[in-house]
Amino acid sequence: MRMVLKILLGLIVLLLVIGGSFVAVIHFGGVPQYDPPRIDLQVELTPERVARGKDLSRMSCNECHLDFEKGRLSGRRMFDVPPVFGVAYSTNITQDPVHGIGSWTDGELIGLLRTGIGRDGHFSMPWMPKLPRMADEDLYSLIAWLRSDDPLLEATPEPNRPQELSFLAKFLSRVAFKPFEWDGAPRVAPSPADPVEFGRYLVHDHLECYSCHSADFKTVDDLDPPASEGYMGGGNRLLSLDGEIILSANITPDHETGIGAWSEEDFVRALREGIRPDGRVLRYPMSRRPEYTVEEAQAMFAYLRTVPALRNPVDRRFHEQGGPALADGRAIYEKYGCITCHGPDGRGLGNLAANLKRFPQDSTLAAWIRNASLFDPHTRMPSYEGRIRESEYEPLVRFVRGFADQAAASHR
Ligand code: HEC
Ligand code: HEC
Ligand code: HEC
Repeated sequence: MRMVLKILLGLIVLLLVIGGSFVAVIHFGGVPQYDPPRIDLQVELTPERVARGKDLSRMSCNECHLDFEKGRLSGRRMFDVPPVFGVAYSTNITQDPVHGIGSWTDGELIGLLRTGIGRDGHFSMPWMPKLPRMADEDLYSLIAWLRSDDPLLEATPEPNRPQELSFLAKFLSRVAFKPFEWDGAPRVAPSPADPVEFGRYLVHDHLECYSCHSADFKTVDDLDPPASEGYMGGGNRLLSLDGEIILSANITPDHETGIGAWSEEDFVRALREGIRPDGRVLRYPMSRRPEYTVEEAQAMFAYLRTVPALRNPVDRRFHEQGGPALADGRAIYEKYGCITCHGPDGRGLGNLAANLKRFPQDSTLAAWIRNASLFDPHTRMPSYEGRIRESEYEPLVRFVRGFADQAAASHR
């Protein structure tokens, strides 16, 4: 009997040791390393590629890599990575040879963007998008732009902050988050003359609309997007920059719960201007992309018309519209969704504590809020013209100015 007990005890100890080492390997080993793909290629810089790459970067890179105070792509904290994964930072992708990507080869950049494996074998977590199927020409345009003399990319010696990943994130990086395979085959975009195919390319291979717009990130199929659970039917839980859950919209052609009743024009406006047909402004993370041409937006609409309609009512939790005008600045800031992009302290996208110096007068600040694209046609900020009540501008402007005072007070 004592013998049996001893063996049992021994087994338990052994299991504990194995379990413990497993936990230790994950905890201390962190995200696993991989062999980076070897790609020997030099991208030719042409003005057309640089211009196209600039637009692509505005659509798909700047929002995360831009330090809004410095005005450089030198990296920042990612406020919308769910806290269960820890704290994540985007990296410095300016031309600084030490801290940025100035000394990376074109092949190393392509390898990272295609597979997620950096030149040192480090795997970029899922919050850094991968572009395994983007057409070569689009990808080369991005690289050409990253090499250009755009002020956003000016060498900035800002060291990368170490990722503070949770155990769960490290664990998933071993069992679930995997790099994409790279076969080196050429990738060519379909011709815009075939809008449905061209639209499919844009919806699947550029911004990965399907990954946010299907049921759940956990069941998204990156290799065959239409096989994702609840493909394009919405309801995926995303975080806005004030930490609230914003459910993605159903963008299948279902008439009641999707966008089946939207016209092509409604869709183009939502995508390029960030405004729904009912006049509501779309909230983070669905910020407008004015860089899409009308033709590209129309092609996406044509493709989305062909996907199976899914009946899936999503509780969008919009604030009430109409009703009496509000007088409390914070309530106005919340009601119109400013807080979803700018966060509770003005430090989400943009930087309301630091950047308001360029609007010395309240009237110019109000004019920006009214229609920011008159100041900058590429802004991600939607136009509030005709949405915010006239009497609400004054308390809103006063409230927004208050962020600078709060920041100054906390520095003292
Ligand atoms: C949703 C946010 C987000 C977007 C969009 C994004 N990135 Fe990143 N990027 C990150 C984060 C976060 C990391 C760090 C990931 C890690 O190490 O786990 C990163 C890492 C990188 C790196 C690796 C740098 C290094 O030193 O290892 C490069 C290069 C890069 N991104 C370029 C791009 C380009 C080009 C685009 C546009 C196609 C882009 N990123 C879009 C968040 C983003
Ligand atoms: C990072 C996640 C994310 C990505 C990527 C994304 N969306 Fe969205 N989208 C959302 C969320 C969340 C909403 C809901 C916003 C709200 O309720 O204010 C939304 C809303 C929309 C709407 C409005 C629908 C409605 O009923 O209000 C359209 C149209 C749309 N997205 C199209 C697209 C297209 C096309 C793409 C790809 C080019 C795309 N989205 C990429 C998250 C995303
Ligand atoms: C969908 C996201 C989004 C929403 C909603 C939004 N903004 Fe912005 N806003 C931005 C972005 C991004 C910038 C940074 C500059 C740019 O892209 O042009 C910005 C810039 C600003 C600026 C200029 C300061 C700076 O840092 O550049 C002010 C002021 C501002 N927003 C106020 C507001 C107010 C007030 C509301 C609500 C009525 C609001 N924003 C709603 C995205 C948004």
